Amino acid sequence: MHIEHLSLTNFRNYARLELSLPKKPIVLHGDNAQGKTSLLEAIYYLATSKSPYTSSDRQLIHWRTEGEVLPFTRMVAEISNRQSPLQRLEMTLMLDNTSGVNRYKKHIRLNGNDKRVMDVVGLLTVVLFLPRDLALIEGSPSDRRRFMDTTLTQVNRAYAESLDKYEKILPQRNALLRRIAERKSSAAELAYWDEQLSQSGAIIIAERQTFLRELEHKAQANHHALTAHQETLSLQYQPSFLPTVEGNGQLSFDVLGLDLHRELTADAIQPQFADQLKAEQRASIERGVTLSGPHRDELRLLINARDCGLYGSRGQARTAVMALKFAELDWMRDHLGESPILLLDEVVAELDSKRRAFLLERLDETIQTIVTTTELDIFTESFVQRAEVLHVEAGQIVQGTPH
Ligand SMILES: Nc1ncnc2c1ncn2[C@@H]1O[C@H](COP(=O)(O)OP(=O)(O)OP(=O)(O)O)[C@@H](O)[C@H]1O
Ligand SMILES: [Mg+2]
Repeated sequence: MHIEHLSLTNFRNYARLELSLPKKPIVLHGDNAQGKTSLLEAIYYLATSKSPYTSSDRQLIHWRTEGEVLPFTRMVAEISNRQSPLQRLEMTLMLDNTSGVNRYKKHIRLNGNDKRVMDVVGLLTVVLFLPRDLALIEGSPSDRRRFMDTTLTQVNRAYAESLDKYEKILPQRNALLRRIAERKSSAAELAYWDEQLSQSGAIIIAERQTFLRELEHKAQANHHALTAHQETLSLQYQPSFLPTVEGNGQLSFDVLGLDLHRELTADAIQPQFADQLKAEQRASIERGVTLSGPHRDELRLLINARDCGLYGSRGQARTAVMALKFAELDWMRDHLGESPILLLDEVVAELDSKRRAFLLERLDETIQTIVTTTELDIFTESFVQRAEVLHVEAGQIVQGTPH
């Protein structure tokens, strides 16, 4: 997969950008605050319909549009992938105040035809690697859930739809729990929401289990390469609701989490999850929140069977994350039949020479990669030779480094 051309209008500090991109490593070089991260953000947005940094679309629109009647931003990518030599994906965010409140509406078009977010899943896929990912292991469980979700939603449409549904149902169920506590609604109303939540939730749990099983294998191979076979990485999925193979509703309190190799389908998980929601109904009403489900799942990384988050050194944690991120890339490539686009923001500067060499070796013309940097000399001469260097300054891009 390859973005041949990117056009931006009023995106962050890019008033207008027309940029053709080669299918080889691209180094985006420039001083601070010139627009390197913003360019990666636009590509990430086109792939996932979300910014990795903000949930407020307004922030993405260039300040120069302030005061305009209908401020908007438009991102367009011309993509060539396995399915098609050239497709034009266009996303526009525009102020819509027809209902009296200011909202930003998203319009998606593919080759000129209107589409919904779900229609364009998998068309453009990315792996984004940021310095903050290096802290994935020390970070919060929600960071690790986001890691699973961004990877899975781009490749697996059933997952994307289930997650979307789950995230819509959960706050509605929680609101109902609070109304029941205030005696404004009856507990009988929960049955409908439990059915809905357990259906989408069961698909999420089953798909996360399969994903982590496949990912573990790839992450282990990368990790062996990075540690010269001294250490073994494994993944541990700890779903907040732990289904059992027997399906007898008996909850296991096995802290080891869900065995990734046990065969469990969404159909087997769903009734157990529904039973659990019912069993904890009273406590949920008291607390006003849904107590178990994929929104509370946890992913742990183990090194030689010990929890890296608890016992690992900082260097071990970074190596484990490197192994995981490249496993993500390999996993997506296996499922898509082609490589996603790799976006590396400032991450190279954060790595020591061994990890840097591991990373740069893997960047070749089969993966369209964009790596940002303020310093060119962190790269080896041979890497710069085979890369395309683009220089960014105040929302403008020129080829090569200025002298
Ligand atoms: N909506 C917006 N409109 C105009 N400019 C914006 C908007 N949002 C952010 N900016 C500005 O865009 C500039 C570029 O930001 P960006 O994060 O892309 O820089 P960068 O090149 O990645 O810098 P660094 O090397 O510090 O990471 C910043 O000065 C930022 O304040
Ligand atoms: Mg930046």
